[in-house]
Amino acid sequence: MAILKFVSIILALLPVVLCDTPANCTFEDVVGQWEFRVSAGGEDNTLNCTKPGPVDHVIHIDLKFPDVAIDLTSGHKGFWTMVYNQGFEVVLNEKKYFAFSQYTDVKSICDQTRPGWSHNTVGTDWACYVGSKIHAEKSSPGKPTKDLSQQLFKTDFAFIEKINTAQNSWKAGVYPEYEKMTIEEMLRRRGGRASKLAMKPRPAPVTEEIRKVASNLPSSFDWRNVNGQNFVTPVRDQGACGSCYAFGSLGMIEARLRIATNNTKTTILSTQDIVSCSEYSQGCEGGFPYLIAGKYAEDFGLTEESCYPYHGQDSTCKKNSCKRIYATNYAYVGGFYGGCNEELMRIELVKNGPVSVSFEVYNDFESYSGGIYHHVALEDGVPGFDPFELTNHAVLVVGYGADPKTGEKFWTVKNSWGESWGEDGFFRIRRGTDECSIESIAVKSFPISP
Ligand SMILES: *[C@@H]1O[C@H](CO)[C@@H](O)[C@H](O)[C@H]1NC(C)=O
Ligand SMILES: *[C@@H]1O[C@H](CO)[C@@H](O)[C@H](O)[C@H]1NC(C)=O
Ligand SMILES: *[C@@H]1O[C@H](CO)[C@@H](O)[C@H](O)[C@H]1NC(C)=O
Repeated sequence: MAILKFVSIILALLPVVLCDTPANCTFEDVVGQWEFRVSAGGEDNTLNCTKPGPVDHVIHIDLKFPDVAIDLTSGHKGFWTMVYNQGFEVVLNEKKYFAFSQYTDVKSICDQTRPGWSHNTVGTDWACYVGSKIHAEKSSPGKPTKDLSQQLFKTDFAFIEKINTAQNSWKAGVYPEYEKMTIEEMLRRRGGRASKLAMKPRPAPVTEEIRKVASNLPSSFDWRNVNGQNFVTPVRDQGACGSCYAFGSLGMIEARLRIATNNTKTTILSTQDIVSCSEYSQGCEGGFPYLIAGKYAEDFGLTEESCYPYHGQDSTCKKNSCKRIYATNYAYVGGFYGGCNEELMRIELVKNGPVSVSFEVYNDFESYSGGIYHHVALEDGVPGFDPFELTNHAVLVVGYGADPKTGEKFWTVKNSWGESWGEDGFFRIRRGTDECSIESIAVKSFPISP
């Protein structure tokens, strides 16, 4: 214990880079008037925007609360949403614009974007653009970082015992395989980001209308057993790569393909294609379901696992001519980032299929072995071994219910840490209280059935 405490102090002092992009931009930073400098269009999706060409035209846009984008020249109205704290997407005049927010090694530059991609809503006429805010404001500090690449994870038995003594709704257990991983690898497994979710919006209020729709839903539901049929594809293991976002995203598309085809299409999709080929995410360093299940699946399509098998490491994108499966109409549940809540999630889940979510992973979660999880904050503040930052882990909600004895409500969630983890690779987590922010960032997207 003393040694563990000592190690954790050392680890807390080491500097490192471990995140998606270092950008940490809030809604407040981005809302306002922007200029987009757009290069010549007419390209296809092979366009490389690393170095955008000469400016062809300029557009001016006002991004307003909560999700309204206005073309300042024509007055036309469109839509926009933050993508977590990483960037923002605008849909206006039949065109989509997405770019990550600008950053340096040490700070976010939230009034500018990195070079981004624009194309029309049917996916043609690609161009590059760079955005800058017209009334420039302050920049935010980047994310703090640490070097955890050498330290091996150590099981903290006392910590596990404490969790099990502190409460009865879930059980912590030992996973010996964790000790083969470094702390950096463990961090990657749970989202690969050192981002605290301080800017994460609270769930949106539930309106009367929504409450009425939700009251007609079954009191429990599980896509693994709908009249005896399972629509959820098998649990996989992401290994030590921060690719949870790819597994959570593609798990949703796989399940929704099964639902759309009454289980006749049981495709497994390639997560390696996402890790190696998507410029909308950062490979093994992390990414976001909105940009993968949504934007990447719409703009580039997904391919099958058999075409591009998972090896769990960053690598150069292998071009291939495999068949691609597309998805469309992607959105945050509730319409935009900040519009989500429990009832909207239940409605989306029952009506259309499993939903991609993200949540904060605390140390206690890694020891979860069964039951209805909620974060157990132990009295002595930090548990014995605590070099971790709070991070963001993407997973797939496949059902919901309530404990028959205690009435405690839960979500049933598919993880990507193998079948021997948790409840056969799944876990349950408290529902209705935005436990670990799980009810704030759900994503939906619809496969185009082949
Ligand atoms: C885009 O171009 C840059 C150099 O300008 C290169 O480093 C990068 O690999 C290219 N990306 C792709 C996907 O070809
Ligand atoms: C990101 O910025 C917000 C608001 O400026 C701040 O509260 C939060 O702590 C920052 N997060 C990180 C990881 O720097
Ligand atoms: C869907 O598949 C199940 C099981 O194969 C079958 O019983 C059912 O009739 C099918 N439903 C439709 C609408 O085809």
